[in-house]
Amino acid sequence: MLDKIKNRRSHFTREFNGEIAPKSLLQDMLNSSIWAPSHKLTLPFRFSVVEPNSREKIKNIILDNYLQNNSNPDPKKIEKIEWIQTKVSHVICIIFKPSGIVPEWEEVASLGAAIQNMYLILNEQSDFGGYWTTGNGMNSPVLRSFLKLKSTEIHYGYFFIGGIDNKRTIANRPQPSVNWL
Ligand SMILES: Cc1cc2nc3c(=O)[nH]c(=O)nc-3n(C[C@H](O)[C@H](O)[C@H](O)COP(=O)(O)O)c2cc1C
Repeated sequence: MLDKIKNRRSHFTREFNGEIAPKSLLQDMLNSSIWAPSHKLTLPFRFSVVEPNSREKIKNIILDNYLQNNSNPDPKKIEKIEWIQTKVSHVICIIFKPSGIVPEWEEVASLGAAIQNMYLILNEQSDFGGYWTTGNGMNSPVLRSFLKLKSTEIHYGYFFIGGIDNKRTIANRPQPSVNWL
């Protein structure tokens, strides 16, 4: 188990090869989310999945939002946004839905655990990878409207998934900071 956790890596858009992931992989990732620890089982998250046929729509929303908010747009950033349509297979939009029953920080922690579950399922695949990204106009009014969020819900970014030719496993981490008492 420790090896699986250590070998889990984020794979970024520039690494994606344009392959489309099978829907069963998306379903396995989404099913894993509800096994996160969750105080009072509030399960404070839901997801909207952008399938390949809808990529152009979300790409245009993110691009228009970027151009409207940047008077001096960066061509490299524009290229990265274009990749959402051409290289990213699916986009899982991560939606936080606080219950009001337990402290909000506990529910944000639960959401993080849910995304880790999804990462671990994705990491079982040798030819697909992805990462959690919090940029790209996350939770902006246009994204909130696109995702049909309730006023209490928050868009906590995206899980981008794409085909990978060379899956990385190696990374460095320091020793954990621990006091044995
Ligand atoms: C809440 C959260 C937000 C993140 N947002 C971004 C992001 O906007 N852009 C990005 O490149 N990576 C983002 N990441 C992924 C990290 O860059 C990545 O986890 C880190 O580089 C460590 O790599 P690893 O996941 O392969 O261990 C995010 C990760 C988390 C947990």
